[in-house]
Amino acid sequence: MSRVLNCIVAVCPDGGIGYKGDLPWHPTRLNNEFKHFRRLTVTRTPGAEDKQNVVIMGRKTWNSIPEKNRPLNDRINIVLSRQLEAPPSGAHHLARDLPSALRLLDGPEGLLADQVWLIGGSSMYSEVVRHADPKAVPE
Ligand SMILES: NC(=O)c1ccc[n+]([C@@H]2O[C@H](COP(=O)([O-])OP(=O)(O)OC[C@H]3O[C@@H](n4cnc5c(N)ncnc54)[C@H](OP(=O)(O)O)[C@@H]3O)[C@@H](O)[C@H]2O)c1
Repeated sequence: MSRVLNCIVAVCPDGGIGYKGDLPWHPTRLNNEFKHFRRLTVTRTPGAEDKQNVVIMGRKTWNSIPEKNRPLNDRINIVLSRQLEAPPSGAHHLARDLPSALRLLDGPEGLLADQVWLIGGSSMYSEVVRHADPKAVPE
């Protein structure tokens, strides 16, 4: 099954997205952005309220989320890593690369999944842009 992949990223004017393993902005400045991020990534397609959206992220992005906020609630959390052998504590799934994560959604897990959000970090964004097909038309 083909799925639309949604990407979300907050970017500094100079293109930076992270600093020392964290976001490059003070957290109190980000209240509205965090709310916006949550609203977008949690909201399901009308009629799919019995499902959950999926967030896919790199291992360092997972680590950058405060432990008390992991997993991102009301969402299926998939972490990408070539090194880890099991999902980090709290994550729902581990995948070795993005195609494997998407294949996971072709199995039974996919029946529970609505929208897919790629939430960083930089290597995943680069991979998606590299493979993006400008001629593709949504089904
Ligand atoms: N501004 C924003 O919107 C935003 C969003 C997300 C993150 N961030 C920030 O970005 C920084 C983290 O991003 P990052 O780019 O350094 O790291 P990252 O992409 O989150 O994590 C890198 C690690 O994830 C795994 N990984 C990533 N892409 C993979 C792929 N396609 N296939 C397999 N494994 C993959 C690898 O783990 P292994 O080494 O275990 O193999 C890799 O070393 C933090 O500072 C975070 O706060 C900002």
